[in-house]
Order: sequence, then C-alpha cells, then structure tokens
Amino acid sequence: MPDAGSDDSFPTLGDLEAAAIGKLPDRLRAYLQGGAAEERTLRANREAFHRWTLRPRALSGVETVDLSTTVLGVPVRAPVFVAPTAYQAQFHPDGEPGVARAAQASGWLAAYSTLSSFSLEAIAEAAGTGPRWFQLYLQPDLSVTRRLVERAEQAGYSAIVLTADTPVLGVRDRQMRSGFAIDGSVPIGNGPDVLPPPRAPMANRDRYHLRPEAKSSWEILDRLRDVTRLPLVVKGILTAEDARLAVRHGAQAVLVSNHGGRQLDGGPSTLSVLPEVVEAVGPGVEVYLDGGVRRGGDILTALALGARAVGVGRPILWALTVGGAAGVRRYMDLLGSELATDLALVGRTSIGAVDRSVLGASPA
Ligand SMILES: Cc1cc2nc3c(=O)[nH]c(=O)nc-3n(C[C@H](O)[C@H](O)[C@H](O)COP(=O)(O)O)c2cc1C
Repeated sequence: MPDAGSDDSFPTLGDLEAAAIGKLPDRLRAYLQGGAAEERTLRANREAFHRWTLRPRALSGVETVDLSTTVLGVPVRAPVFVAPTAYQAQFHPDGEPGVARAAQASGWLAAYSTLSSFSLEAIAEAAGTGPRWFQLYLQPDLSVTRRLVERAEQAGYSAIVLTADTPVLGVRDRQMRSGFAIDGSVPIGNGPDVLPPPRAPMANRDRYHLRPEAKSSWEILDRLRDVTRLPLVVKGILTAEDARLAVRHGAQAVLVSNHGGRQLDGGPSTLSVLPEVVEAVGPGVEVYLDGGVRRGGDILTALALGARAVGVGRPILWALTVGGAAGVRRYMDLLGSELATDLALVGRTSIGAVDRSVLGASPA
C-alpha cells in the first residue's frame, strides 16, 4: 500500500495545486486546469463557497469526530468521493489503479471514467473491496454502451453514473490554444470501440450535427434500467426541472455538476443551485455535488445545503501528478483531517449532525 506520510512535496492542501502544475507540460496543464470559453463558470464554482460563512461553536464537547456516512447505502469513511476524470495515466503511470488503491486504503468511494487509461476490470482489481462507481459516456452505438454497463456490473461497480451534460464537449479555449486534443493517440483502457464525446458539432451548410448519442432523451434511463440492476446516478444536473425528470425516469440519485466549469460557460456555480435541486427531488433521493470543492469547510458548506456527499476532480489529478498513488493517499489524509478539524470547530461530532445551522445567513 502507498505510504501516505512520506511525501512532503505538498505540506498542506494549499500547496498541492502549485506543486502539480509546476510538473506538467503546457498542454496537459491546459487540459487539466482549463474550463469552457472565458471560464466564468469555472471561477464561479470556487467563488460560491467563499460567499458562505461557517458558524464556529465554543465548548461543544467534541472529543471524538466521526466522518463516516453511507452513499446509496454503501458505508464510506468520509462524505467525499473521487469524481470521474479521464486519461489518468497521462498524469502519472500509476493511473486509475493507483487512485483505486489510495481510495480503498482511505475508505473513499471513487468513480472511474468511461475514458479511463486502464480497463475498468484492471481498476476493479486494484480497488479490491473498495466501493466504486462506473461513469458512463453514452456511445454512438447503443450496443457498445450496453456492453460497458454489463462489464461494470460484472466487475463489482455498485452504481452507474450517467454523465448527461456532454452531448458535445464545451468550447475549451485553453485546450485549443495549447494544441491539446484527444485525438485517438491517447489510449482508452476500455477498448478501441469506446469514444470520447465529440469536440464540436459538424457544420453542414446552415446546420450543425451532433453525434447520434446526442439524440438521447430521458428515455435512455429506462433503456439502461433494462440492461442493469445497478442504481443510476445522473451527473450534470443544474436545474430543478432536470432533477425531477431524472427521478421520474428512475434515477436513484443526482449529481449536481457543471463538469468542473468545462461545459456551458455562463452556467451557474454548482453550490448556488444545490438547494433548488435538493428541494426538487425531495428527501428520498440523494443529491451529490462536485465543482470547486477544495477544503474541509467547502465540504461542510455543501453538506449543510443538502448534499449527501461531494466529489473532487482536479485535486485527485494534482495529487496523482505529484506523488502517484502515495500522493493521492496523502491528499485524502489531509482533506479528511481538515474536515474532522472543521467539524469539531463547528461543534459537531458526526456528519449526520451537520445541518443548515452550521452556516451563517445566505449570501445576497
Ligand atoms: C481533466 C478532467 C477530466 C474530466 N473527465 C471527466 C470524465 O471523463 N467524465 C466525467 O463525467 N467528468 C469528467 N470531468 C468532470 C469531473 O467529473 C468533475 O465534474 C469536475 O472535475 C469537478 O470539479 P473540480 O475539478 O473543480 O473538483 C473531468 C474533469 C477534469 C478536470
């Protein structure tokens, strides 16, 4: 198992991003750091957390702090999970299996991309008994989609996360400026018939065409339900309307996400729409959030506004870049310890005790 304590190249969480981006070539840096267009939504994700305050409590009897919770009924050691990100071997040869070993050792849930560098079976083997979800990108050919879902079920993934915000990739200025393109030269571990979402629609006179899978509507959930018994989580929900549609079509949970600010620039920060989504789905449906979660206090803020758990995307890739599996383990230790510290400082001893009263007044 990776040794979590030995890597001092990021003494604190606040040092991690700079340590990582200093090691990356320009093109990979643009791919990892960038958002869509002017990056308004990318910035908004972070700014939204800064608008809230936490209410410290004094002398509240906090000798032992417990971060454990459940996500879709599965016990996890912290209410934070690894958000799915593509092509992890570009950042470190340990790739997704390294992340899986770190997640298992930390007791974190982790989601792995359709576009993983290693096969979903190799990742599952590295994860051992660790909880894992499979992130699905719909494929142009429905039989390829079905096969991916069947493989994930066989390999012990406990949910399918359908990413629903990507009929086409957003306009990624930074990536285009740097010459970065996922063009088939970056291997996809799940096989040669698996495709990334298209980079742009195809122009044909006065019309633009997207690929066939972009035709999918909510009925795709019903079709996926015929293929698998696994719960479906819909990722990329930002409105009450879509949250309700997801639940009506059988989603067990929704993930409030704007793809880390990489899809529609000008869209809202995830934190700002979390309350509307939580209200729309009602108490029986778990809601998760990702986008700009960096510190323990961010996790508390999202939980206080109704998230069951939150995902982290870029920070996992930063930690992987800096120290492979051991770097990811260290990052998880630092974030867990910060969350435990902050929980004690708001006077709570368990995740279940976090409610709206840990936050100050709503921002204007
Ligand atoms: C480099 C990179 C690759 C990503 N690849 C995927 C992917 O393959 N599938 C997916 O559903 N989301 C993908 N995402 C989005 C993440 O799952 C997540 O929504 C986002 O990173 C969360 O924001 P954060 O990076 O601020 O934590 C990717 C994000 C980044 C930064």
